[in-house]
Amino acid sequence: MARPHIEFVHAQNVGWTPRADGAEEKVLNADPLSDEATLIVRYPPGYSAPASSPDHGAEEFFVLDGAIDIDGEKRRAHAYGFLPQGSGLGVRHTAQGAVLLVFRHAAGDPNALDGTAQTITLHTPAMPWDVSTYDPKLIHLRLARKVLRLGPNNSGRTFLLTGMAHGVPAEATTLPAEMHDHAEEMFMLQGAMWAPEGRMGAGAYFYRPPGILHGPHVSEYGFLQIMRSPGANAIVTHWSDVHRPLPINAPYCPVLPHGTPPEWAWKLTPQTAW
Ligand SMILES: [Fe+2]
Repeated sequence: MARPHIEFVHAQNVGWTPRADGAEEKVLNADPLSDEATLIVRYPPGYSAPASSPDHGAEEFFVLDGAIDIDGEKRRAHAYGFLPQGSGLGVRHTAQGAVLLVFRHAAGDPNALDGTAQTITLHTPAMPWDVSTYDPKLIHLRLARKVLRLGPNNSGRTFLLTGMAHGVPAEATTLPAEMHDHAEEMFMLQGAMWAPEGRMGAGAYFYRPPGILHGPHVSEYGFLQIMRSPGANAIVTHWSDVHRPLPINAPYCPVLPHGTPPEWAWKLTPQTAW
């Protein structure tokens, strides 16, 4: 695992790259030593593709927009799926076009191979929110989650996380920073959350390797995000003695890998609703 720290980019600032199969993609973060990557794929109307080849890494996806038939089942916005490597799955067709967030696992990853990893098909809007457990130090965010996948051999969890509006502590002016022994990855679907690196609005993406001190996070108006914890099925947080100011109105100040195109660091002006 050698994926670089990126925290965070606005996916809107990343250009589309045409692919040989007629789709377009934006690679947001990738392991330079394998084909493991997180990308957004835009399938044009009328796109069809056969099953993934056996040497193609497992594909984990979340439909952001449009609709696409995968293995004979219609996947609409917020459908989630996991297609293990070697499963012979992945036959796809879209009449109207679709945009998918794709977590591609490294080819040969033993925890993503058919027989070890399970095929998953979820219509996530129909799932109940779990509000039962969360770290008391995050109580201000009023979080709820839907677990989409628990990887075999503690290889990582994928989940939806939402925070209610007014997720800002009433009294505190600082909050502790945090750290994990596993990686964290996030794509913001709706709403916004403040971080010391700026305002993570819809389209914000980060990949945070293990051992990086981060936060605090607050949200004035709520959010919905998809998260992964590569390397652990249960998030374990080490709270720091370092307390930092609430990051409301923090200017955009991303951590970007060496060689990142300059336009990836552009600011993005939030759209108003009036
Ligand atoms: Fe964290």
